[in-house]
Amino acid sequence: MSLKRIAVLTTGGDAPGMNAAIRALVRCGTNQKVEVMGVFRGWWGLIHDEMKLFNHRSVSGIINQGGTILKTSRCPEFETQEGQARAFEMVKKNGIEGMVVIGGNGSFRAAHTFYKNFGVVSIGLPASIDNDINGIDTTVGWDTAINTALSAIDNIRDTATSMERIYVVEVMGRECGAIALAVALGGGCEDVLIPEKKYDMEDVCHSIVNGNLRGKVSWIIVVAEGAGHAVDIAKKINEITTLETRPVVLGHIQRGGRPTAMSRDIALRLGQEAVSRLLNGEKNKAVGIHENKVIAVDFETAIKKKEYQGENIYNLIKGLT
Ligand code: F6P
Repeated sequence: MSLKRIAVLTTGGDAPGMNAAIRALVRCGTNQKVEVMGVFRGWWGLIHDEMKLFNHRSVSGIINQGGTILKTSRCPEFETQEGQARAFEMVKKNGIEGMVVIGGNGSFRAAHTFYKNFGVVSIGLPASIDNDINGIDTTVGWDTAINTALSAIDNIRDTATSMERIYVVEVMGRECGAIALAVALGGGCEDVLIPEKKYDMEDVCHSIVNGNLRGKVSWIIVVAEGAGHAVDIAKKINEITTLETRPVVLGHIQRGGRPTAMSRDIALRLGQEAVSRLLNGEKNKAVGIHENKVIAVDFETAIKKKEYQGENIYNLIKGLT
């Protein structure tokens, strides 16, 4: 199937490695004589006709940059039939025959609806620090985010040890505990609270008090934002144990920064794959990495709640304290 012109956009939260993905899409597309339009600010740019033709040079020098040169946004307008109808007008006006949507599961849900409502075909390229796309092992940006969070936790460890305190560190991830598990393991943290596992504050405090009786004086407890708030949890621990407990919310520092080698590697491999599948006439799928191979999963599967695969890591964290 020969397509003359495709479009690429980044939507939802930015993730380190998005730029590397854009570079791969633009270069692989133009190398195959396909015109690649860059759409600005995600779905918003499609609705408002903010796009331009990209070439090799448009994506020079961006492989090592965090964020996205295309900008990104969350666009409630695109969730409406009217918003999508306007976007469809722009797709026709600009001669766009297929799209690559770089983003998370919300982005793929939107792309899937756009196809069902208006027949616009797309391939998804998973980029989100949350690593919450079902059916694939890792997203573009996740590795960078966990390394950034880990470096912050290492710093907190110095103070926790020196001042003999308890820290509750909140990490991002929406309803997925993947970031929390990875940093709790790598950071040697004493406990981890994730949305996939029920926890009881009395039990959490019981192990702190027991440890304290054995002479242990510092703790780092990682909480995924979907499992609770560091401020509330720290307050509760202090009330129950009377030990000094401080909350830290890592927030958006986890989303920025230079992509790691792994985030770039995944972005570039998936960029090439997305173009190739789109040009082969495939649609409604997200490309992804599974067992270090490039695969594709239907949007229907990708947008389901990610199957919890963290039990071994969770038990290892518990077993190492
Ligand atoms: O999806 C990425 C993410 O960083 C989540 O971990 C977090 O819950 C959310 O985006 C924050 O979104 P915003 O930057 O729009 O507040």
